[in-house]
Amino acid sequence: MKRLAILTSGGDCSGMNATIRAAARTAIANDVEMIGYRKGYAGLLKNEYIVLDSMAVSGTLQRGGTFLQSARSQEFRTEEGRKKALDNLMKERVEGLIVVGGDGSLSGALALDKMGFPVIGIPASIDNDIAYTDMALGVDTALNNIIYAVDCIKDTASSHDRAFIVEVMGRNSGYLASTAAIATGAEFAIVPEVELDLTDMCHQLRRRYEEGRTNALIIMAEGAGHAQSIADGIKDAVGFETRVTVLGHYQRGGAPSVFDRLLGSRFGRKSVELLLSGTKGVMVGLSANSLTTTLLEMVVKGGQKKLNEDLLRMADILGI
Ligand code: F6P
Repeated sequence: MKRLAILTSGGDCSGMNATIRAAARTAIANDVEMIGYRKGYAGLLKNEYIVLDSMAVSGTLQRGGTFLQSARSQEFRTEEGRKKALDNLMKERVEGLIVVGGDGSLSGALALDKMGFPVIGIPASIDNDIAYTDMALGVDTALNNIIYAVDCIKDTASSHDRAFIVEVMGRNSGYLASTAAIATGAEFAIVPEVELDLTDMCHQLRRRYEEGRTNALIIMAEGAGHAQSIADGIKDAVGFETRVTVLGHYQRGGAPSVFDRLLGSRFGRKSVELLLSGTKGVMVGLSANSLTTTLLEMVVKGGQKKLNEDLLRMADILGI
């Protein structure tokens, strides 16, 4: 192989730069050129790329986001768009492509694989909703961002006898909310996977209030409902003054954690080694701290990863 390519697609996350850097440097170590398409599949369709020599990836490891930039391309979802993408790859003599992104991006990678082009997928999404990997890139950094923000919120909540609902990202997954609830000592986690019993939650909050506690913290996943209505429900039933904080895109940025730098580096290196050894059509994942490969077909068919309900039980027990 003489030339490989990489792109980052969908929602950005911390650790993507580590992956790009590791993939580029592993290629260079094997006398292969690596190019990076700008803005995901959109850049592939416009044939916008840069050559990722060693200097091009220097100083990127510690930066959040993706220096190649990312996008969600509508055109690539069409058959015509995919044909154009394949033509561009052939025209530039690219022999293998690494796609770093979430479920939509990996579906795109599968489409290219089905058209006969060698592709490797890397799971990257703070939602941690991708099947066949314990952790996706960016999750750990996002959780660190969340706990920093929530620790600050707890200080002000306890100074005013208030209940706070902190809304975190995750789309339809409750992973970030349940793990953040454990890591911040929150009283409750509200997740899309389990229907909320507001009366029961208010009953438990009232009991705590009567025991003399001065504040309460609830971590709510964005896909679990409307935070302000729940806050209003608590205020009416329990008497706590309530506030809602939506953490939003703050969660997705920032310098990657050590975990994400290492994971991104491992993913990037492995993806190039797989392509060079003739493996294609798989996603690299992490299981029990070892790298795994799973057919993209299975990953896409697997749909959203199921939430480990033990996390919720743990959040419940520890939030008493
Ligand atoms: O999938 C990652 C994610 O950050 C979700 O948690 C969130 O719902 C969504 O992307 C936000 O997308 P956008 O950046 O396009 O607003």
